Amino acid sequence: MTTGTRSQGDAMRYGYFDDEHCEYVITRPDTPLPWINYLGTDAYFGIISNTAGGYSCYRDARLRRITRYRYNNVPADSGGRYIYLRDNGTGEYWSPTWQPVQRDLDSYECRHGLSYTTIASARLGIRAETLYFVPPGETLEVWRLRVRNERDTPAGLSVFSSAEFCLWDAQDDATNFQRNYSTGEVEVAGGAIYHKTEYRERRNHFAYFACSEPLAGFDTDRDAFLGPYRGWDRPLAVERGESSGSIAHGWAPHGSHHVRFELAPGETREVIFLLGYWENPEDGKFDPPGWPIINKALVRPVIDRWLRPETVEDGFRRLRESWASTLSVLNVRTPDAHANRMVNIWNPYQCMVTFNMSRSVSLFESGISRGVGFRDSCQDLLGIAAMAPGLARARILDLAATQLASGGAYHQYQPLTKRGNDAIGSGFNDDPLWLIAGVAAYLKETGDTTILDELVPFDGRDDTAVPLYEHLERSFRYTLDRLGPHGLPLIGRADWNDCLNLNCFSDTPGESFQTTANVPGGQAESVFIAGLFVLAATELADIAGLRGLAGDAGMYRAEAEKMAGVVMAHGWDGRWYRRAYDHSGQPVGSAENAEGRIFLEPQGMCVMSGIGIANGMAAKALASVAEHLATGHGIMLLQPPYRRYHRELGEISSYPPGYKENGSIFCHVNPWVMIAETMIGDGDAAFGYYSRINPSAREAISDVHRCEPYVYAQMIAGKDAPSYGEAKNSWLTGTAAWNFVAITQRILGIRPELDGLRVDPVLPSAWAGFTATRRFRGATYEITVRNPDHVRGRAVRVLADGKPIDGTHLPLAQPGATVRVEVFIGPEHSRPSGEGVGRR
Ligand code: GLC
Ligand code: GLC
Repeated sequence: MTTGTRSQGDAMRYGYFDDEHCEYVITRPDTPLPWINYLGTDAYFGIISNTAGGYSCYRDARLRRITRYRYNNVPADSGGRYIYLRDNGTGEYWSPTWQPVQRDLDSYECRHGLSYTTIASARLGIRAETLYFVPPGETLEVWRLRVRNERDTPAGLSVFSSAEFCLWDAQDDATNFQRNYSTGEVEVAGGAIYHKTEYRERRNHFAYFACSEPLAGFDTDRDAFLGPYRGWDRPLAVERGESSGSIAHGWAPHGSHHVRFELAPGETREVIFLLGYWENPEDGKFDPPGWPIINKALVRPVIDRWLRPETVEDGFRRLRESWASTLSVLNVRTPDAHANRMVNIWNPYQCMVTFNMSRSVSLFESGISRGVGFRDSCQDLLGIAAMAPGLARARILDLAATQLASGGAYHQYQPLTKRGNDAIGSGFNDDPLWLIAGVAAYLKETGDTTILDELVPFDGRDDTAVPLYEHLERSFRYTLDRLGPHGLPLIGRADWNDCLNLNCFSDTPGESFQTTANVPGGQAESVFIAGLFVLAATELADIAGLRGLAGDAGMYRAEAEKMAGVVMAHGWDGRWYRRAYDHSGQPVGSAENAEGRIFLEPQGMCVMSGIGIANGMAAKALASVAEHLATGHGIMLLQPPYRRYHRELGEISSYPPGYKENGSIFCHVNPWVMIAETMIGDGDAAFGYYSRINPSAREAISDVHRCEPYVYAQMIAGKDAPSYGEAKNSWLTGTAAWNFVAITQRILGIRPELDGLRVDPVLPSAWAGFTATRRFRGATYEITVRNPDHVRGRAVRVLADGKPIDGTHLPLAQPGATVRVEVFIGPEHSRPSGEGVGRR
């Protein structure tokens, strides 16, 4: 029985890491929440839980939803890629993925790997293992089922598949029943089920569900499959052992195949199911032309090919190879197993998934409400530039094309149309600056300056195209054109903290704090944007320098310095950086406030941008973070949380204390503090913070953490919440990219720069060193770092191929070269200059 007690010592674990295979192995199905994985790497995507729940979409989870999923359903996570097994001798049936039938399994094991999941189990002497994945470059998913008879007698079995189709537009599908109950259409031909709702009119795409085995029957009408008043846990067709051959007309189109076979003792049978998406050319939709039957001339060969075991095997091999190659950009061997597996496997994987999905598809993001976030995707670039430079380049150009001529940016765009989302609009005044940060990350990784000359329109209007470099200038200018009474940047609707809505003053329930009209002449200012501006302007100065624009570079630097001065004059509260000034000029995040006295974001961002490092403000601010915001579960966003609603502050005070922006451990911001700590030379503090939110390090408290132990979550409830330590909103979060940057570029210190690779680790003193392999601009760096005296400071001596170099910056190597890098950290070699080494 797998759903019973766990062995002692593993009291809170639901599985374990298999680092060798890059898998997390879940050993009981009833995880505290569904623990999911992602299928698909380029256009066809899906989520899959550890019990096969989830759904798929093509490019856009709102506009091209392939299968239906009911969020917030009971029981949790019902609806997915289901297979039912039935013993035809006794009539007993069960789910080899435990859900939805939930009959006890004799063994159960789910392996979430890199873009694939396998779920294996046994019951009544029948072993079943299903592999789910999307082959690279295809618009289909494979479910490969292997059933083995482990009895010593023959077994007569039935297999039923089940996938419920979504009528494409997920929002409409979940709301517009007066129409939708009448539109559903399917076809069945050659053993394949085709879902073709609206194909007769303006759509040229359809879905299909095919099976490799001869069918004993099928159903395409959900209600015929389930039977009246029944759920996925006891479909009538399965109970009866017989499909009804139903053809859906309206109501709910569904796909189910019935395969029947006999297995001798020890015999295994493989059954392949394909669920796919296909687009026909506009002039070749129908066969015969003009008759509303799908022309299958193009899709059928694809189906036939992927129903062959060799093709599936080969596709799966290619998927694994492609991930192995992607992850080979960086490999580290540190004394910390949690850091190793996160850096080498799970964190880059989460970075890719987050980049691909932006904030659209997870168990917490319904795929309907948020498309591609401007600031979100710009930050995601930091996590994937090294692994997927081509994708990064394309995304930068897409994002920039939604920028407005004012330099402002649409807050979100829809992935299918790539048009800015009018419903949410613009006016989040930090947005444009993140474009500079994203482009800088891309340039540092690739050196591809040609991107700066790419012609990119504003607001998707081709006649307005200017070189990308000019977009960056406008981003910079946008801030300077909008300064407030203290000379700090105006916040607009919000800055990074979407919920700090200082110009909103909303009294109407349900009104969006972000899109509602702001008070006229919104005067609120953001210290955070000031910090981000300094960071971005400095990056832009370096980029201008690279283009030989010394004048521009000087101007950007001068403005950065000026803004840093404003922050020190008006943004400093005495012991930490203030957060903002509200519409009436009152400070937010100040010792003067009763609630929300200290906020985390400006401490991280201002120190990251270098403000106050020289004069000790930075160290003081970080000491205040340690004193007021740090907890054993990570660093909280603010203290004390708001206990009542402040209409002058907006959504932030709408959350109960300790949740979300109102004082949770907002994981996205934690790495900024880790980076800041490395900048003042404190590797112990930096790595300490890193470990507190490292999901692998939290695996041992899975009952408290509750989300997946292999990926970061957006938030962990803060100490003021009753559920202190509980994570929420796993997977799609800027936490992925920023933690990857903090650990790899700052703590381990392997940092791409415009003209070479810097190796400048700031390690925890417990470490005697580490080794790493990094591919960078065509060369391979074999890095060994030694910290024999266990100091928490930074590198004092660096050798490249045995020769000492000046500082920690390695000039560019020849493509194809291997560079041996040795780094020493230690007190006996004193460091002449540079950023401060000690702290407090
Ligand atoms: C969410 C948003 C992100 C924002 C953060 C803080 O994670 O996706 O854009 O910066 O919340 O409000
Ligand atoms: C932030 C919050 C998110 C919220 C959004 C808009 O991004 O993290 O939960 O939906 O702001 O209010």
